[in-house]
Amino acid sequence: MSKKRVLSGIQTTGNLHLGNYLGAIRNWVDIQQDYDNYFFFADLHAITVPHDPKVLAENTFKLAAVYLACGIDLECSTIFVQSHVSAHSELTWLFNCITPLNWLERMIQFKEKAVKQGENVGVGLLDYPVLMAADILLYDADVVPVGEDQKQHLELTRDIAARVNDKFGKKKQPVLKVPEPMIRKEGARVMSLTDGTKKMSKSDPSELSRIDLLDPPEAIKRKIKKCKTDPVKGLVFDDPERPECHNLLSLYQILGNKTKEEVAVECQDMGWGQFKPLLTETAIAALEPIQNKYNELMSDRNYLDKVLRDGAEKASITANQTLTRVKDSLGFLPPL
Ligand code: AMP
Ligand code: TRP
Repeated sequence: MSKKRVLSGIQTTGNLHLGNYLGAIRNWVDIQQDYDNYFFFADLHAITVPHDPKVLAENTFKLAAVYLACGIDLECSTIFVQSHVSAHSELTWLFNCITPLNWLERMIQFKEKAVKQGENVGVGLLDYPVLMAADILLYDADVVPVGEDQKQHLELTRDIAARVNDKFGKKKQPVLKVPEPMIRKEGARVMSLTDGTKKMSKSDPSELSRIDLLDPPEAIKRKIKKCKTDPVKGLVFDDPERPECHNLLSLYQILGNKTKEEVAVECQDMGWGQFKPLLTETAIAALEPIQNKYNELMSDRNYLDKVLRDGAEKASITANQTLTRVKDSLGFLPPL
Protein backbone atom coordinates (compact mmCIF):
# COMPACT_ATOMS: atom_id res chain seq x y z
CA MET A 1 0.00 0.00 0.00
CA SER A 2 1.33 3.44 -0.84
CA LYS A 3 1.91 5.93 1.94
CA LYS A 4 -0.67 8.57 2.74
CA ARG A 5 0.21 12.10 1.74
CA VAL A 6 0.91 14.95 4.15
CA LEU A 7 1.02 18.58 3.11
CA SER A 8 1.71 21.74 5.06
CA GLY A 9 3.30 25.15 4.76
CA ILE A 10 4.32 28.28 6.58
CA GLN A 11 4.16 31.86 5.44
CA THR A 12 7.48 33.43 4.54
CA THR A 13 7.05 36.43 6.77
CA GLY A 14 9.87 37.16 9.19
CA ASN A 15 11.53 34.85 11.64
CA LEU A 16 9.95 31.70 12.95
CA HIS A 17 9.22 31.49 16.64
CA LEU A 18 8.74 28.66 19.11
CA GLY A 19 5.02 28.54 18.29
CA ASN A 20 5.77 27.80 14.65
CA TYR A 21 8.31 25.19 15.62
CA LEU A 22 6.33 23.40 18.31
CA GLY A 23 2.93 23.86 16.67
CA ALA A 24 4.01 22.96 13.16
CA ILE A 25 7.50 21.96 11.98
CA ARG A 26 8.38 19.69 14.90
CA ASN A 27 5.22 17.68 14.29
CA TRP A 28 6.03 17.33 10.61
CA VAL A 29 9.48 16.05 11.45
CA ASP A 30 8.07 13.55 13.95
CA ILE A 31 5.62 11.97 11.50
CA GLN A 32 7.41 12.38 8.16
CA GLN A 33 8.80 8.84 7.89
CA ASP A 34 5.31 7.35 7.80
CA TYR A 35 4.06 9.57 4.96
CA ASP A 36 4.79 10.96 1.51
CA ASN A 37 5.26 14.63 2.42
CA TYR A 38 5.03 17.99 0.68
CA PHE A 39 6.14 21.01 2.72
CA PHE A 40 6.25 24.42 1.13
CA PHE A 41 7.06 28.09 1.70
CA ALA A 42 3.94 30.18 1.39
CA ASP A 43 5.34 33.28 -0.28
CA LEU A 44 2.07 34.04 -2.08
CA HIS A 45 0.40 34.16 1.31
CA ALA A 46 3.14 36.47 2.57
CA ILE A 47 2.00 39.28 0.27
CA THR A 48 -1.60 39.31 1.55
CA VAL A 49 -0.49 42.05 3.94
CA PRO A 50 1.81 44.89 2.84
CA HIS A 51 5.29 43.45 2.34
CA ASP A 52 8.82 44.61 1.62
CA PRO A 53 10.05 43.35 -1.81
CA LYS A 54 13.64 43.71 -0.63
CA VAL A 55 13.33 40.91 1.91
CA LEU A 56 10.72 38.56 0.40
CA ALA A 57 13.18 36.36 -1.51
CA GLU A 58 15.67 36.22 1.35
CA ASN A 59 12.92 35.27 3.82
CA THR A 60 11.88 32.42 1.54
CA PHE A 61 15.42 31.19 1.31
CA LYS A 62 15.94 31.39 5.07
CA LEU A 63 12.74 29.48 5.72
CA ALA A 64 14.01 26.69 3.48
CA ALA A 65 17.16 26.48 5.58
CA VAL A 66 15.05 26.44 8.75
CA TYR A 67 12.92 23.51 7.53
CA LEU A 68 16.01 21.46 6.78
CA ALA A 69 17.76 22.51 9.98
CA CYS A 70 14.74 21.34 11.98
CA GLY A 71 15.10 17.89 10.46
CA ILE A 72 12.91 17.73 7.36
CA ASP A 73 14.27 14.70 5.52
CA LEU A 74 14.45 14.94 1.73
CA GLU A 75 14.27 11.15 1.44
CA CYS A 76 10.57 11.26 2.28
CA SER A 77 9.70 14.96 1.96
CA THR A 78 9.55 17.34 -0.98
CA ILE A 79 10.09 21.00 -0.14
CA PHE A 80 9.32 23.81 -2.55
CA VAL A 81 8.40 27.47 -2.97
CA GLN A 82 4.69 28.11 -3.49
CA SER A 83 5.20 30.78 -6.18
CA HIS A 84 7.41 28.39 -8.19
CA VAL A 85 4.38 26.20 -8.89
CA SER A 86 1.97 28.36 -10.85
CA ALA A 87 -0.89 25.88 -10.43
CA HIS A 88 -1.47 27.35 -6.93
CA SER A 89 -2.48 30.72 -8.35
CA GLU A 90 -4.46 29.21 -11.18
CA LEU A 91 -6.49 26.84 -9.04
CA THR A 92 -7.19 29.71 -6.64
CA TRP A 93 -8.94 31.55 -9.45
CA LEU A 94 -11.07 28.55 -10.29
CA PHE A 95 -11.99 28.10 -6.63
CA ASN A 96 -12.75 31.84 -6.30
CA CYS A 97 -15.54 31.41 -8.77
CA ILE A 98 -17.23 28.64 -6.81
CA THR A 99 -16.65 29.88 -3.23
CA PRO A 100 -19.46 31.90 -1.69
CA LEU A 101 -18.26 35.27 -0.40
CA ASN A 102 -19.89 34.79 2.98
CA TRP A 103 -17.77 31.70 3.66
CA LEU A 104 -14.73 33.98 3.58
CA GLU A 105 -16.25 36.83 5.54
CA ARG A 106 -16.71 34.43 8.45
CA MET A 107 -13.02 33.61 8.80
CA ILE A 108 -11.70 34.62 12.21
CA GLN A 109 -8.14 35.21 11.01
CA PHE A 110 -9.41 37.53 8.28
CA LYS A 111 -11.45 39.53 10.76
CA GLU A 112 -8.50 39.82 13.14
CA LYS A 113 -6.00 40.76 10.45
CA ALA A 114 -8.41 43.13 8.69
CA VAL A 115 -8.82 45.15 11.88
CA LYS A 116 -5.04 45.54 12.07
CA GLN A 117 -4.83 46.74 8.43
CA GLY A 118 -7.51 49.41 8.83
CA GLU A 119 -8.39 50.97 5.47
CA ASN A 120 -5.71 49.05 3.68
CA VAL A 121 -7.29 45.58 3.42
CA GLY A 122 -6.40 43.92 0.12
CA VAL A 123 -8.68 41.45 -1.65
CA GLY A 124 -5.88 38.92 -1.18
CA LEU A 125 -6.34 38.96 2.57
CA LEU A 126 -9.96 37.90 2.21
CA ASP A 127 -8.98 35.36 -0.44
CA TYR A 128 -6.14 33.90 1.62
CA PRO A 129 -8.09 30.76 2.69
CA VAL A 130 -9.01 30.00 -0.94
CA LEU A 131 -5.33 30.02 -1.88
CA MET A 132 -4.74 27.75 1.09
CA ALA A 133 -7.43 25.37 -0.16
CA ALA A 134 -5.70 25.30 -3.55
CA ASP A 135 -2.35 24.56 -1.84
CA ILE A 136 -3.81 21.54 -0.13
CA LEU A 137 -6.16 20.13 -2.75
CA LEU A 138 -3.61 20.31 -5.58
CA TYR A 139 -1.63 17.53 -3.91
CA ASP A 140 -4.53 15.23 -3.00
CA ALA A 141 -3.33 15.56 0.59
CA ASP A 142 -4.76 13.05 3.07
CA VAL A 143 -3.55 14.84 6.18
CA VAL A 144 -2.69 18.47 6.93
CA PRO A 145 -0.77 19.05 10.17
CA VAL A 146 -1.24 22.61 11.44
CA GLY A 147 -1.61 24.57 14.66
CA GLU A 148 -5.00 25.12 16.23
CA ASP A 149 -5.36 28.58 14.64
CA GLN A 150 -5.61 27.07 11.14
CA LYS A 151 -8.49 24.73 11.91
CA GLN A 152 -11.14 26.98 10.43
CA HIS A 153 -9.17 27.30 7.19
CA LEU A 154 -8.97 23.52 6.99
CA GLU A 155 -12.72 23.27 7.39
CA LEU A 156 -13.15 25.75 4.56
CA THR A 157 -10.81 23.66 2.42
CA ARG A 158 -12.96 20.61 3.05
CA ASP A 159 -16.09 22.59 2.20
CA ILE A 160 -14.59 23.79 -1.09
CA ALA A 161 -13.53 20.24 -2.01
CA ALA A 162 -16.98 18.91 -1.19
CA ARG A 163 -18.62 21.66 -3.24
CA VAL A 164 -16.47 20.98 -6.30
CA ASN A 165 -17.15 17.26 -5.98
CA ASP A 166 -20.85 17.87 -5.55
CA LYS A 167 -21.23 20.31 -8.45
CA PHE A 168 -18.75 18.90 -10.92
CA GLY A 169 -17.81 15.37 -9.87
CA LYS A 170 -19.34 12.10 -10.85
CA LYS A 171 -20.86 10.04 -8.06
CA LYS A 172 -18.18 7.39 -8.04
CA GLN A 173 -15.37 9.69 -9.12
CA PRO A 174 -14.84 12.74 -6.92
CA VAL A 175 -12.68 15.47 -8.48
CA LEU A 176 -10.85 16.31 -5.26
CA LYS A 177 -9.74 14.42 -2.18
CA VAL A 178 -11.20 15.78 1.06
CA PRO A 179 -8.30 16.14 3.53
CA GLU A 180 -8.22 15.66 7.30
CA PRO A 181 -6.63 18.17 9.68
CA MET A 182 -4.05 16.90 12.14
CA ILE A 183 -3.79 19.08 15.21
CA ARG A 184 -1.58 17.91 18.00
CA LYS A 185 -2.68 18.96 21.46
CA GLU A 186 0.80 19.46 22.79
CA GLY A 187 2.33 22.69 21.47
CA ALA A 188 -0.74 23.48 19.37
CA ARG A 189 -1.03 26.85 21.08
CA VAL A 190 2.16 28.35 22.38
CA MET A 191 1.30 31.57 24.16
CA SER A 192 3.04 34.94 24.31
CA LEU A 193 5.75 35.42 26.93
CA THR A 194 4.29 38.77 27.88
CA ASP A 195 0.63 37.69 28.06
CA GLY A 196 -0.34 34.07 28.66
CA THR A 197 -3.79 34.60 27.18
CA LYS A 198 -2.47 35.67 23.75
CA LYS A 199 -0.94 33.44 21.07
CA MET A 200 2.79 33.80 20.45
CA SER A 201 2.80 35.61 17.12
CA LYS A 202 5.17 36.97 14.47
CA SER A 203 3.12 40.13 14.30
CA ASP A 204 3.26 41.06 17.99
CA PRO A 205 5.13 44.40 18.08
CA SER A 206 7.07 43.34 21.18
CA GLU A 207 10.06 41.07 20.57
CA LEU A 208 9.94 40.11 24.21
CA SER A 209 6.67 38.28 23.54
CA ARG A 210 8.33 35.50 21.55
CA ILE A 211 11.44 33.38 21.32
CA ASP A 212 12.64 33.08 17.74
CA LEU A 213 14.17 29.84 16.58
CA LEU A 214 17.35 31.68 15.67
CA ASP A 215 17.62 33.75 18.85
CA PRO A 216 21.14 33.57 20.30
CA PRO A 217 21.47 32.28 23.90
CA GLU A 218 21.76 35.82 25.29
CA ALA A 219 18.43 36.86 23.78
CA ILE A 220 16.70 33.73 25.06
CA LYS A 221 18.05 34.41 28.51
CA ARG A 222 16.89 38.03 28.46
CA LYS A 223 13.41 37.20 27.19
CA ILE A 224 12.79 34.48 29.76
CA LYS A 225 14.14 36.72 32.51
CA LYS A 226 11.66 39.43 31.55
CA CYS A 227 8.69 37.21 30.77
CA LYS A 228 5.42 37.65 32.64
CA THR A 229 4.85 35.42 35.67
CA ASP A 230 2.72 35.63 38.80
CA PRO A 231 3.40 36.04 42.51
CA VAL A 232 2.37 32.48 43.47
CA LYS A 233 4.95 29.94 44.63
CA GLY A 234 4.58 26.35 43.45
CA LEU A 235 4.17 25.92 39.69
CA VAL A 236 1.21 24.02 38.26
CA PHE A 237 -0.37 23.16 34.90
CA ASP A 238 -3.97 23.88 33.95
CA ASP A 239 -4.85 26.61 36.45
CA PRO A 240 -7.06 29.02 34.44
CA GLU A 241 -6.04 31.81 36.81
CA ARG A 242 -2.37 31.24 35.87
CA PRO A 243 -2.11 31.14 32.06
CA GLU A 244 1.55 32.20 32.05
CA CYS A 245 2.44 29.42 34.47
CA HIS A 246 0.77 26.81 32.28
CA ASN A 247 2.46 28.11 29.15
CA LEU A 248 5.97 28.22 30.62
CA LEU A 249 5.66 24.75 32.15
CA SER A 250 4.41 23.42 28.81
CA LEU A 251 7.41 24.93 27.03
CA TYR A 252 9.74 23.38 29.58
CA GLN A 253 8.03 20.03 29.12
CA ILE A 254 8.11 19.95 25.33
CA LEU A 255 11.56 21.46 24.84
CA GLY A 256 13.03 19.16 27.48
CA ASN A 257 11.28 16.07 26.06
CA LYS A 258 9.67 15.32 29.40
CA THR A 259 6.21 14.10 30.30
CA LYS A 260 3.64 16.39 31.84
CA GLU A 261 3.65 14.29 35.01
CA GLU A 262 7.43 14.53 35.38
CA VAL A 263 7.32 18.31 35.07
CA ALA A 264 4.34 18.62 37.41
CA VAL A 265 6.24 16.77 40.14
CA GLU A 266 9.55 18.51 39.48
CA CYS A 267 8.06 22.02 39.63
CA GLN A 268 5.32 21.71 42.23
CA ASP A 269 7.32 23.44 44.96
CA MET A 270 9.44 25.71 42.78
CA GLY A 271 9.44 29.49 42.64
CA TRP A 272 10.08 31.48 39.47
CA GLY A 273 13.65 32.29 40.52
CA GLN A 274 14.49 28.63 40.41
CA PHE A 275 12.40 27.73 37.35
CA LYS A 276 13.47 30.46 34.92
CA PRO A 277 17.15 29.44 34.69
CA LEU A 278 16.05 25.85 34.10
CA LEU A 279 13.74 26.85 31.27
CA THR A 280 16.46 29.08 29.81
CA GLU A 281 18.98 26.26 29.80
CA THR A 282 16.48 23.83 28.28
CA ALA A 283 15.46 26.24 25.52
CA ILE A 284 19.05 27.07 24.61
CA ALA A 285 20.00 23.39 24.49
CA ALA A 286 16.98 22.51 22.34
CA LEU A 287 17.67 25.27 19.80
CA GLU A 288 21.44 25.01 19.57
CA PRO A 289 21.62 22.05 17.15
CA ILE A 290 19.00 23.65 14.90
CA GLN A 291 20.92 26.91 14.81
CA ASN A 292 24.21 25.19 14.02
CA LYS A 293 22.67 23.28 11.14
CA TYR A 294 20.94 26.43 9.89
CA ASN A 295 24.23 28.34 9.73
CA GLU A 296 25.85 25.48 7.87
CA LEU A 297 23.03 25.37 5.29
CA MET A 298 22.97 29.13 4.79
CA SER A 299 26.62 29.06 3.82
CA ASP A 300 25.95 26.64 0.95
CA ARG A 301 23.63 28.55 -1.33
CA ASN A 302 24.12 26.18 -4.27
CA TYR A 303 22.89 23.22 -2.31
CA LEU A 304 19.70 24.99 -1.21
CA ASP A 305 19.12 26.28 -4.75
CA LYS A 306 19.24 22.73 -6.05
CA VAL A 307 16.91 21.41 -3.36
CA LEU A 308 14.34 24.10 -4.22
CA ARG A 309 14.71 23.53 -7.96
CA ASP A 310 14.17 19.77 -7.60
CA GLY A 311 11.28 20.36 -5.19
CA ALA A 312 9.45 22.72 -7.54
CA GLU A 313 9.91 20.32 -10.43
CA LYS A 314 8.45 17.39 -8.55
CA ALA A 315 5.63 19.41 -6.98
CA SER A 316 4.64 20.87 -10.37
CA ILE A 317 4.06 17.44 -11.85
CA THR A 318 1.58 16.45 -9.12
CA ALA A 319 -0.05 19.88 -8.98
CA ASN A 320 -0.55 20.16 -12.74
CA GLN A 321 -2.24 16.78 -12.87
CA THR A 322 -4.83 17.92 -10.34
CA LEU A 323 -5.27 21.28 -12.04
CA THR A 324 -5.99 19.54 -15.33
CA ARG A 325 -8.51 17.27 -13.60
CA VAL A 326 -10.34 20.28 -12.11
CA LYS A 327 -10.32 22.20 -15.40
CA ASP A 328 -11.68 19.18 -17.22
CA SER A 329 -14.46 18.76 -14.69
CA LEU A 330 -15.38 22.43 -15.00
CA GLY A 331 -15.68 21.98 -18.75
CA PHE A 332 -12.79 24.06 -20.11
CA LEU A 333 -11.59 23.54 -23.64
CA PRO A 334 -8.30 21.64 -23.25
CA PRO A 335 -5.18 23.24 -24.81
CA LEU A 336 -5.24 22.42 -28.53
P1 AMP B 1 2.12 31.36 10.65
O1 AMP B 1 3.21 31.93 11.47
O2 AMP B 1 0.80 31.99 10.97
O3 AMP B 1 2.41 31.29 9.18
O4 AMP B 1 1.94 29.86 11.12
C1 AMP B 1 2.71 28.78 10.67
C2 AMP B 1 2.35 27.52 11.42
O5 AMP B 1 2.69 27.67 12.80
C3 AMP B 1 0.86 27.15 11.41
O6 AMP B 1 0.71 25.75 11.34
C4 AMP B 1 0.35 27.68 12.71
O7 AMP B 1 -0.78 26.98 13.17
C5 AMP B 1 1.56 27.46 13.63
N1 AMP B 1 1.57 28.45 14.70
C6 AMP B 1 1.70 29.79 14.58
N2 AMP B 1 1.69 30.39 15.80
C7 AMP B 1 1.55 29.39 16.72
C8 AMP B 1 1.49 29.35 18.14
N3 AMP B 1 1.57 30.45 18.88
N4 AMP B 1 1.35 28.15 18.74
C9 AMP B 1 1.29 27.01 18.00
N5 AMP B 1 1.34 26.98 16.66
C10 AMP B 1 1.47 28.14 16.01
N1 TRP C 1 -2.07 29.72 6.45
C1 TRP C 1 -1.03 28.95 7.04
C2 TRP C 1 -0.47 29.65 8.25
O1 TRP C 1 -0.51 30.83 8.40
C3 TRP C 1 0.08 28.68 6.07
C4 TRP C 1 -0.41 27.86 4.95
C5 TRP C 1 -0.66 28.29 3.68
C6 TRP C 1 -0.75 26.48 5.00
N2 TRP C 1 -1.11 27.27 2.93
C7 TRP C 1 -1.20 26.15 3.68
C8 TRP C 1 -0.72 25.51 5.99
C9 TRP C 1 -1.62 24.86 3.38
C10 TRP C 1 -1.13 24.21 5.66
C11 TRP C 1 -1.59 23.89 4.38
O2 TRP C 1 0.06 28.98 9.05
